[in-house]
Amino acid sequence: MKNFIFQTAGTIIHESGGTSRLGDIAAGLGMHRVFLISDPGIAGIGLLQKALAGLQNGRMEVAVFKEVMADPPESSVLEALKKAQDFEVDGVVGFGGGSSMDVAKLVAYLYHSGQTLSEIYGVGLATGKRLPLILATTTAGTGSEVTPIAIVTTGENEKKGVVAPQLLPDVALLDPELTIGLPPRVTAMTGIDAMVHAIEAYTTKMKKNPISDSLAIQGLKLLYHNIPAAMTKGDDLDARSNMLIGAMLAGQAFANAPVGAVHALAYPIGGFYHQPHGLSNALVLPHVMRFNLPAASKEYAELARELFGEQGAESDLAAGAKLISALEQLIEQVKLETRLRQVGIEAETLPKLAKAAMLQTRLLVNNPREVGYEDALQIYRDAW
Ligand SMILES: NC(=O)c1ccc[n+]([C@@H]2O[C@H](COP(=O)([O-])OP(=O)(O)OC[C@H]3O[C@@H](n4cnc5c(N)ncnc54)[C@H](O)[C@@H]3O)[C@@H](O)[C@H]2O)c1
Ligand SMILES: [Fe+2]
Repeated sequence: MKNFIFQTAGTIIHESGGTSRLGDIAAGLGMHRVFLISDPGIAGIGLLQKALAGLQNGRMEVAVFKEVMADPPESSVLEALKKAQDFEVDGVVGFGGGSSMDVAKLVAYLYHSGQTLSEIYGVGLATGKRLPLILATTTAGTGSEVTPIAIVTTGENEKKGVVAPQLLPDVALLDPELTIGLPPRVTAMTGIDAMVHAIEAYTTKMKKNPISDSLAIQGLKLLYHNIPAAMTKGDDLDARSNMLIGAMLAGQAFANAPVGAVHALAYPIGGFYHQPHGLSNALVLPHVMRFNLPAASKEYAELARELFGEQGAESDLAAGAKLISALEQLIEQVKLETRLRQVGIEAETLPKLAKAAMLQTRLLVNNPREVGYEDALQIYRDAW
């Protein structure tokens, strides 16, 4: 018998067009003066207008911060916080991908918690309370709308995380209409990221639990089967909805059963070469999985059988290998790069990447097979 804890967002609303009801949802949480946080891309394509209209429907007074930078630096958080305090808000709405939602979480927490950002980096260091918080996601990837995590870029290329239950929102809103305009390449990268969340949650070593397992399986199925349609027919609302739900389920899974070596080896690619998070994951995914296969064949085989049906007498190793090949094919099918050298990474820098990956101890401890420096280097060489 194994003890476990499972935490998630207070309420999850999946509703096509639900953004028009943002004001009612905010009123239900006691908000009157709302701080709406988003990024220039979302404002530029007119999506932010939908959120504003939805909030005004509920007669909210709204101040907008639409300057969140991708992979947000500390300055995005601190600038947003100052504006929120100047405007004296009583609730926060994060509207965007992981970047905007993570900034929204931190602003809602830092507003009157009495703590500073640098005091809460790490796990469970937040001791105060946050403002009421709604997160509406416009990408189907990070699952940030249901994770107790916020990721901030510090200095040149280091990412730090705040992990605390206070960062789970009161309401997570999934409105598939918001993701209709997500370009195919972003759909592919964020979708693969979400699939990695499901796979790594399912094979996580320390906190594997039956709720996360169920969510990971269901999330992976939805993502794997819907990503091609979401890419080729961007306005397919069913495919978009399934991607959003799949990413949210995978987010719930890894929020409670954390990710491992794929993410640990992906982070340095993002850090040093500024490659998007989902693409960095895709580049190392098959190679980390091949490395893990001897230790995770049972779990990979279970996922393969869930995705492709029962395969009779096939061994776990064979079924696991089939899963890895299928993912490799999918990454090609969605037209992402498959080799590190295709994104400008030079062979000489692989040792630097391997060294940086070894610093991700928070993630490496979850991996089903122990990863040493030489292993990490070999995985990068395989991926090069
Ligand atoms: N909190 C968590 O649990 C968690 C988990 C994984 C990653 N992250 C973090 O999340 C961030 C990445 O988030 P992301 O991948 O969602 O991307 P993002 O929020 O950085 O957005 C990427 C780009 O896509 C655009 N975009 C977003 N939605 C769009 C839409 N519907 N249509 C058109 N364009 C749209 C944005 O304007 C932006 O330019 C990183 O900082 C990463 O570290 C957080
Ligand atoms: Fe991720």
